[in-house]
Amino acid sequence: MCGIVGIVGKSPVAGRLVDALTRLEYRGYDSAGVATLNKGRLERRRAEGKLFNLQKKLADEPLDGTIGIAHTRWATHGVPNETNAHPHFVEGVAVVHNGIIENFSELKEELAAAGAQFATQTDTEVVAHLLAKYRRDGLGRREAMHAMLRRVTGAYALAVLFEDDPSTIMAARSGPPLAIGYGRGETYLGSDAIALSPFTNEITYLIDGDWAVIGSEGVAIFDIDGNRVSRPRQITQAAAYLIDKGNHRHFMEKEVYEQPEVISHALGHYVDFASHTVKIETGAIDFANVSSLAISACGTAFLAGSVGKYWFERYARLPVEIDVASEFRYREMPLSPSQAALFISQSGETADTLASLRYCKDNGLKIGAVVNATESTIAREADAIFPILAGPEIGVASTKAFTCQLAVLASLAIGAGRARGTLDAADEKELVRHLTEMPRIMSQVLNLIQPQMESLARDLSKCKDVLYIGRGTSYPLAMEGALKLKEISYIHAEGYAAGELKHGPIALIDENMPVIVIAPHDRFFEKTVSNMQEVAARGGRIIFITDGKGAAASKLPTMATIVLPVVDEIISPMIFSLPIQLLAYHTAVFMGTDVDQPRNLAKSVTVE
Ligand code: F6R
Repeated sequence: MCGIVGIVGKSPVAGRLVDALTRLEYRGYDSAGVATLNKGRLERRRAEGKLFNLQKKLADEPLDGTIGIAHTRWATHGVPNETNAHPHFVEGVAVVHNGIIENFSELKEELAAAGAQFATQTDTEVVAHLLAKYRRDGLGRREAMHAMLRRVTGAYALAVLFEDDPSTIMAARSGPPLAIGYGRGETYLGSDAIALSPFTNEITYLIDGDWAVIGSEGVAIFDIDGNRVSRPRQITQAAAYLIDKGNHRHFMEKEVYEQPEVISHALGHYVDFASHTVKIETGAIDFANVSSLAISACGTAFLAGSVGKYWFERYARLPVEIDVASEFRYREMPLSPSQAALFISQSGETADTLASLRYCKDNGLKIGAVVNATESTIAREADAIFPILAGPEIGVASTKAFTCQLAVLASLAIGAGRARGTLDAADEKELVRHLTEMPRIMSQVLNLIQPQMESLARDLSKCKDVLYIGRGTSYPLAMEGALKLKEISYIHAEGYAAGELKHGPIALIDENMPVIVIAPHDRFFEKTVSNMQEVAARGGRIIFITDGKGAAASKLPTMATIVLPVVDEIISPMIFSLPIQLLAYHTAVFMGTDVDQPRNLAKSVTVE
């Protein structure tokens, strides 16, 4: 999942291309590069690491030219160095690529046997070599492009510049998204509409199998058989927002503190604050009559779905099967059209989640998409879209998208409960009343816990391993706490169901291993306290995240106790997310890691 952008322009493009890349850096930041065509010559600048390095390079060695392509990379094949950075040049062909060319080894062998010299370890380079070969064989540019596309398999969004054509960019999509934008006498290409938002809001999304010839005055789109096809132009909602940290040190911190506001937007879409009822348009999904729900997602979105499972089963008596999408898509789960499926994705572009969606669609299930990006591929392929309305999430570690996903899933579960008759009007009113209290309680908690989180983070930053445990909805939350800590502080952490401790992980407990216990005073509290007891008996250091009642009820010594307000069970996962997010955040800040762009990660994962 790299980001690509292109401009067929009237004025110099290098600066604008790099500016557009800043809005795509969430897709990867291992290296970046830009190529322009200037006076009949392809030129490029590339740099390892963050975009900042490319910007420095361009300041020293500017690039002229009114047509160009650019790329920000998340490495799949080949280490993240300058040599492997895109654009790749071969004999007058420049290529940028997002995705994976699955048959690249076979193609590379074949091309090398015919004399091609490979300069990089990337899969992308075969695309440039194939195009160069077809041109040498005498094919025109379009024919070469079409011939190349029929040879490569895998997932790709591609942009190509030919040195002998100063007025056209060619593009192709199979998997990762690609949008064409229309300006005044200029045309644009980008991995998403947000990248293009300062230039235009008039967009055409290519669909899988499409390839396009993009000129300044017109765009021709073809299908894989080479037939001219037409795709709708639409006005995108991806407004040119200012990427701004406000008063915060990092986007992650800003996004944590935005939660009360964005949660209230999200709730405003799904519940009526005055009558305390849900107001959900479930569209094609008939919750009243579905036999079960299949949920699939990746990472944090999967953990949101895992919390959602408890709610759908409890409030709507609707059985839920949940799986990480990378497993779901291949495990050949028997499905029937009487079921419905929900896919949860902040970006709406995650390759495994999309593949799972398509598997369910092929099996006749109605599809719901819980997404932040409502113009994404997952949203577009779903029968019903449930937007989470979190606003752009820039920090790679998901925070506000997680709690907004939870708010939406909770609303959907209540709506499903009403539709299925497992909740009556009074139950609905009571549950929705708790949801509507959430923004206020979140603000209160964020103010309350900040100093304690900072001082606790100092202790945590000295640890090598951390265990998180919880029961009920606090179990997926324990896994989310561990995920957050490991991805931004690089401290090894695991989340376990508290009851599982004695079946293995308890062997790890010693005086060096903090155990973070997430235990609101709910139905499971006494049981979790027993598990805490087992930790204490083995010298483990406990960080106890509980509420006022829980703190009063437990007499066990702890390394720290974080006391939150007593809240209803339906909102506790959102409220208890706040200390786990801030604990991870402050630990990472204290350790000096790159909080917003942690190593090896990318915000949008459009490869398997
Ligand atoms: C972790 C995180 C990831 C994403 C996962 C799915 O903080 O953000 O685990 O949740 O990559 O991404 P989306 O939601 O875009 O499908």
